[in-house]
Amino acid sequence: MAKIVLGVGGGIAAYKAVYLLRALMGEGHFVTPVLTESATKFVGSVTFSALASEKAKVSLFEDSDAIPHTHLGRSADLICIAPATADIIFKLANGVADDILSATVMASKAQVVLAPAMHEEMWDNFAVQKNIKALSDAGYMIVPPAHGSLAAGDSGVGRMAEPEVIATFVRFALVEESVNLAGKKIVVSAGGTREAIDPVRFIGNRSSGKQGLAFAKVAACWGAEVVLVTTNSVSEFPRVRQVLVSSADEMSEAMHSERAHADLVVMAAAVSDFRVASFSSSKIKREVRTNMTLELEANLDILTSLTSSESGDCIYIGFAAETDALEENLTKKLHSKGVDIIVGNDVTKPGAGFDTDTNSVTVLSKLGDRFSLEDVSKEAVAVKVLALAHTMFERS
Ligand code: CTP
Repeated sequence: MAKIVLGVGGGIAAYKAVYLLRALMGEGHFVTPVLTESATKFVGSVTFSALASEKAKVSLFEDSDAIPHTHLGRSADLICIAPATADIIFKLANGVADDILSATVMASKAQVVLAPAMHEEMWDNFAVQKNIKALSDAGYMIVPPAHGSLAAGDSGVGRMAEPEVIATFVRFALVEESVNLAGKKIVVSAGGTREAIDPVRFIGNRSSGKQGLAFAKVAACWGAEVVLVTTNSVSEFPRVRQVLVSSADEMSEAMHSERAHADLVVMAAAVSDFRVASFSSSKIKREVRTNMTLELEANLDILTSLTSSESGDCIYIGFAAETDALEENLTKKLHSKGVDIIVGNDVTKPGAGFDTDTNSVTVLSKLGDRFSLEDVSKEAVAVKVLALAHTMFERS
């Protein structure tokens, strides 16, 4: 459980802050709503008070407590402001503390998560962008606004992210490993490739893509721009651009082109090692066959082709799905694949590997780091491994 101050600015998205409050309460946090005066014009403070851990605060002077902002600011583990209006963003970036919300942020050393919401023209305005950049550089975590319906029937970029997305940002901001990846480009591959036999059949594998998606989400929440090269389409997530592929060949092409200027490549996909030697362009008929032999030919090892053609200082993370001799195979693959970090799992263990929400992994780095995680969420694996990659950015 964390102590969270939920700051609410004066915008139409204030009503969505009620759902965010419920989500944060549902995760077991102690949440204190802090509303600006204009927020109360959109949603009354009673609504927030009724759902929160304690009464909503709307003024510096309403309670017997003469300095509510310093008490709130000091005791908070995290401050989340949703919606963050252009006005609040200006105040925070320029040291103005003339209401309870801005004063609380200034009186706090806690991590701040900001979910801006405003009209597209305002979001594009140079002053807003300058202030957002200043806050991001100072370590504030920004939940980028989405494209969609805005107030007064308009549509464009500026719509506040959905409450569950903001709650995900909060979750990854609260982990102790949380680091600032703003300015980093991360390319992640996910899912199992499909090698076509004919127009209706393919050779596939049991990978769900969940581990790769977890890497993409954690990295995006920590501020990185992420490209997710995936065989399964996933719901939109801020800062994650999806590139849909199917076969190993398509994945290889996408990975080679997307890794330009990347700081980190995470090769979490389960790539088929073989493809059928001759694709049949028409459906293979059953007819009177009693058996059938498919000739296979080797696919490229995408990861090795990426690392062996690397000329910059991009960090590579590889995976190893093993059924036996985990440690030995991991050490071998760390070197043969030319990666900086290898994440290995014994896919025969219950609750680890394909299509589960959990994983058990052993992680080795070429600098000698080593740790194991038993039966943890795939998100927790992503958190630990990305934190290790971050230390490698700093060590290089
Ligand atoms: N990989 C790849 N291209 C392939 C096969 C694997 O890029 N054609 C990548 C995987 O995404 C993973 C790592 O290499 O990051 C190891 O994959 P794994 O399936 O464990 O090993 P293989 O190299 O296929 O070796 P083996 O099947 O013999 O264990």
